[in-house]
Amino acid sequence: MKRAVDDVAAPRSLSGYGDPSFSADVITWQKQHGRHALPWQNTRDAYRIWLSEIMLQQTQVAAVIPYYQRFLNRFPDIASLASAAPEDVMAHWSGLGYYSRARNLHRCARHVMEFHGGRFPSDPALLAELPGIGRSTAAAIAAFSYGARAAILDGNVKRVFCRVFGIEGFPGAKPVEDKLWQRAVALLPEQDVEAYTQGLMDLGATLCTRSRPACNRCPLAQRCVAFETGRVQQLPVRKPKKAIPEKRTAMLVIADRGEVLLEQRPGSGIWGGLLSLPEVQEMAGDTLSKVDVDSIAARAVAPFGLPGSCDRLQPFSHGFTHFKLHVSPYLIGLQRRLASASEQGHVWYPIAKLADAPLPAPVKKLLLSLFSRADLFSDEVRQ
Ligand code: ADE
Repeated sequence: MKRAVDDVAAPRSLSGYGDPSFSADVITWQKQHGRHALPWQNTRDAYRIWLSEIMLQQTQVAAVIPYYQRFLNRFPDIASLASAAPEDVMAHWSGLGYYSRARNLHRCARHVMEFHGGRFPSDPALLAELPGIGRSTAAAIAAFSYGARAAILDGNVKRVFCRVFGIEGFPGAKPVEDKLWQRAVALLPEQDVEAYTQGLMDLGATLCTRSRPACNRCPLAQRCVAFETGRVQQLPVRKPKKAIPEKRTAMLVIADRGEVLLEQRPGSGIWGGLLSLPEVQEMAGDTLSKVDVDSIAARAVAPFGLPGSCDRLQPFSHGFTHFKLHVSPYLIGLQRRLASASEQGHVWYPIAKLADAPLPAPVKKLLLSLFSRADLFSDEVRQ
């Protein structure tokens, strides 16, 4: 959704959060202790400033500098970038990551050539309408290129504000972010917006860091709620962890004459392309009666042989990035084996070779620990 101009530019009213001494402290500190010789400083060239702000969106200064210089050598102005082939632009971005930034950068250059005569607009609201430029980036470009009085609020500035003002909510949550924007706008100084903007960035990047912040050198320490109340490590509040979904399955260890039955998994999905144990969803969990377990197991095993014993093994859990898998394993012996395993995407695998088998780690661990238990197997099975 596009914002109205008023929403982006700073209103003169201070909405209760204004405090000119805040910006005065930041500006004084920036002039004495801030960064003044970064490659995108000491210029009013909006193209160079825009490029730096996009590169710096998810990447640290030290990593950006060589890319920034190489990029400018190849594309010294917006016209050269706009007329370049997309592959050429990507090649000069390659290694910086977050490649949608490069695609948007190129689109933005073409848009500025076509609709703004090759000159970036000075109004932060218009800048924020361009591809890849959000509200904070628009404000930084407008402030550094044109001295516009516009508020930034990137991740570093959120951290500074959350600590200084003792804001307890997660700063990525919309209501908290809205409040942070109100403060950011209200705290803007009447003058020296460039030094103030750079000062907030410098504080966040060099003193008010996430871990081990240098509060002893911070010009805002006397007014910092987190510092005063010993909550610097706790603020800003971390993103609440999503509940990880849980799945359950049962795995059958069907063992017969020194071999175990393995199943070829499909090429994609979890454990794609590996061998694993046959799974039976209905046998997951520990609420089934022995009679039910035996009858479901008999049906599952039927294509491969006539089941003998069926014993429940120790359940285990395995964490994936997006869910947790709870596994109920069963050990099943056969009275008689049928010869059809391979036709059904299964294979009888020598137990002696399991250590080198292409198995998921938790399955291999289960099998190796199981088959090293001398009490469970005859010599013939263990080999
Ligand atoms: N991060 C985002 N913008 C920056 C800038 N102009 N200087 C240093 N770090 C930044």
